Amino acid sequence: MAFSSVRIVLVYSLALTTQITCTSPRTFSIDYQNDCFLKDGAPFRYISGSIHYSRIPQIYWKDRLLKMYMAGLNAIQTYIPWNYHEPASNRYNFSGDRDLEHFLHLAQDVGLLVILRPGPYICAEWDMGGLPAWLLNKKDIVLRTSDADYISAVDKWMGKLLPMMKPFLYQNGGPIITVQVENEYGSYFACDYNYLRHLTQLFRSHLGPDVVLFTTDGAGVGYLACGALQGLYATVDFGPGGNVSTSFAAQRYAEPHGPLVNSEFYTGWLDHWGEHHSVVSTAIVAKSLNQMLAMGANVNMYMFIGGTNFGYWNGANSPYAPQPTSYDYDAPLSEAGDLTDKYFAIRDVIKMYNKLPEGPIPPSTPKYAYGSVENDQAPDSV
Ligand SMILES: *[C@@H]1O[C@H](CO)[C@@H](O)[C@H](O)[C@H]1NC(C)=O
Ligand SMILES: *[C@@H]1O[C@H](CO)[C@@H](O)[C@H](O)[C@H]1NC(C)=O
Repeated sequence: MAFSSVRIVLVYSLALTTQITCTSPRTFSIDYQNDCFLKDGAPFRYISGSIHYSRIPQIYWKDRLLKMYMAGLNAIQTYIPWNYHEPASNRYNFSGDRDLEHFLHLAQDVGLLVILRPGPYICAEWDMGGLPAWLLNKKDIVLRTSDADYISAVDKWMGKLLPMMKPFLYQNGGPIITVQVENEYGSYFACDYNYLRHLTQLFRSHLGPDVVLFTTDGAGVGYLACGALQGLYATVDFGPGGNVSTSFAAQRYAEPHGPLVNSEFYTGWLDHWGEHHSVVSTAIVAKSLNQMLAMGANVNMYMFIGGTNFGYWNGANSPYAPQPTSYDYDAPLSEAGDLTDKYFAIRDVIKMYNKLPEGPIPPSTPKYAYGSVENDQAPDSV
């Protein structure tokens, strides 16, 4: 009798567990009827910010993520620079400042979802848009197309990276809700649909059928013509000050239904070497953000913290115009991770839509005067 009652309890609790996992699985999808995302079956809108782990030393990751969370964000967006992780062909580095999995764990621990942009091309004002320079050892390679040499390198890299990302997908218990394919491909001259189709199949084969895959392009019909592809949810990017309705109308051209998404809402702007530091007014950033949130749109702020181009990782535009070491971007968190007026203005806008988390915001770091530094080496002796 005692034995069988134990068995009954066991069977009962097993049934209960099964029932719980069957009725509340973790899901993330698009609701085309109600023009929104669905998270675990309920309408969901993200308010996100870009942070590039490759531009911030690992010891500061948690501090920056926590500041983003305390601003009221529920998600972050990050790029994965291929050349940062495969510096030489077949030689991978995912340790120290390149420990992507640790970064994703930290984001999840802090309470942030993740919008992942693994490229293979990322732009990002990063060296060669994240493509490894060693690809150019093949003299005739045509980057970002169906070129056989390019595709075989991409297949190999994604065969390494995407299986590593799969456990981090939301439906698998991780923080990643959506994954971007390529980057503003509609701005590239090639317009190779077979390349985008190949990437779509590649991402699907590694990540499974459930994850939301998307593209991002400039908010103009001309960009979406070559950037959007059936099976990839088309989103747009645009900065403050313009007409938000007109910009989203471009997205509606490619996606008549589904959530409105601005994947790169520019909080500031990039710098070019030798030019003045870009500055974008806090007032117009706050105003446009408010307009988009009032429409129910999903917004990722690019950048929420810019950080630093260490080493020679800075990119360049053409005709040749390199980015400087700083990627401050006039973002709401400064290059040093400090709180700014823009940070608090954005937080005040978000507060009108979402409940802000309670607790203290990590403070800006103290600064010290180190005095003057003598450089006694003449330039020609270096
Ligand atoms: C991997 O990257 C880390 C962080 O940049 C660096 O400290 C380390 O030396 C690299 N490892 C190798 C084997 O190059
Ligand atoms: C934005 O453009 C639409 C037409 O697309 C127009 O009706 C609206 O008045 C404009 N809004 C502003 C603030 O200029």
